[in-house]
Amino acid sequence: MTAEFEGPRTAIVTGGAKRIGAELSRALAADGWHVLIHYNHSAAEAEALAARIGGSTVRADLADPRASATIMAALDGLPPPRLLVNSASRFVLDSADDFTVDGWDAHLDINLRAPALISRAFAAKAGRGLIVNMLDAKLAAPNPDFFSYTISKMGLAGLTELTARAFAPGIRVCGIAPSVTMVSGPQSRANFDAVHDRNALGRGVDVAEIVGALRFLIATPTITGQTIVLDGGQRFLSLARDVQFLPPSGDGQFLPPSGDGQFLPPSGDGQFLPPSGDGQFLETE
Ligand SMILES: NC(=O)c1ccc[n+]([C@@H]2O[C@H](COP(=O)([O-])OP(=O)(O)OC[C@H]3O[C@@H](n4cnc5c(N)ncnc54)[C@H](OP(=O)(O)O)[C@@H]3O)[C@@H](O)[C@H]2O)c1
Repeated sequence: MTAEFEGPRTAIVTGGAKRIGAELSRALAADGWHVLIHYNHSAAEAEALAARIGGSTVRADLADPRASATIMAALDGLPPPRLLVNSASRFVLDSADDFTVDGWDAHLDINLRAPALISRAFAAKAGRGLIVNMLDAKLAAPNPDFFSYTISKMGLAGLTELTARAFAPGIRVCGIAPSVTMVSGPQSRANFDAVHDRNALGRGVDVAEIVGALRFLIATPTITGQTIVLDGGQRFLSLARDVQFLPPSGDGQFLPPSGDGQFLPPSGDGQFLPPSGDGQFLETE
């Protein structure tokens, strides 16, 4: 451990009871951190994980602006806070055509306002340490599916940049932006299993790589305001829609988000185009 994180120390992991958050909680505990596992609905998973890794838990609904105060209060009696991982996230399908005020507000409140409030409180309380925001690789090649979610993560990327500047020199702020790592939202298992092959590197992200990125950020005291993108080169495909609407195999046409059986037109369908108009990559007679 670098001098930055010597001695007893606490890591807060929001949404730390399940899935990626739980993997991060487990890895941090293995590295000697006391982990404060934040959760909302997953009480049983949070308590079981805390018992297994010797951590603590705190429940707070991040839609409530008082959540950051609740989380900070739970630090009382724990080793000093040195790491905050903003991993909790709302991920509900909507589009630029149909998003609602309630859906917009919920995504922005949970995915952006809450990390902003918790980051500010953490920086004031910790004085020194690291904040890691879980972003999304789709920001590197945006498409308008999951519209409110994507806007919220774009805001979180901005928060990463601004708080890195605002909280220096004591606090570093970085992001980790994976592409699809676990089956999420309305995605089918068949789609999840199939889409990774289409990435430029022919593979998808393993959660162990997210753990590795977090460990790199912790161990590297000169990095701040930077985001590590883990996407197997998916951004090079410049997909017009979210990858989960690609069919498991076939011609790259997108499936509609609802099951009405219609295929959307194949424009911008993820097929590779020739790099220029000079025809040298096109078949000749
Ligand atoms: N999974 C992927 O493939 C993927 C891809 C790209 C980016 N990411 C990002 O990586 C992070 C972790 O992904 P994930 O798939 O593990 O996340 P997730 O399962 O979608 O959500 C993580 C946790 O967020 C918590 N949460 C949601 N709404 C909340 C609220 N109102 N108040 C408090 N907590 C709330 C939930 O806690 P409870 O269960 O306790 O309610 C949930 O378990 C997210 O930020 C996500 O955007 C994930």
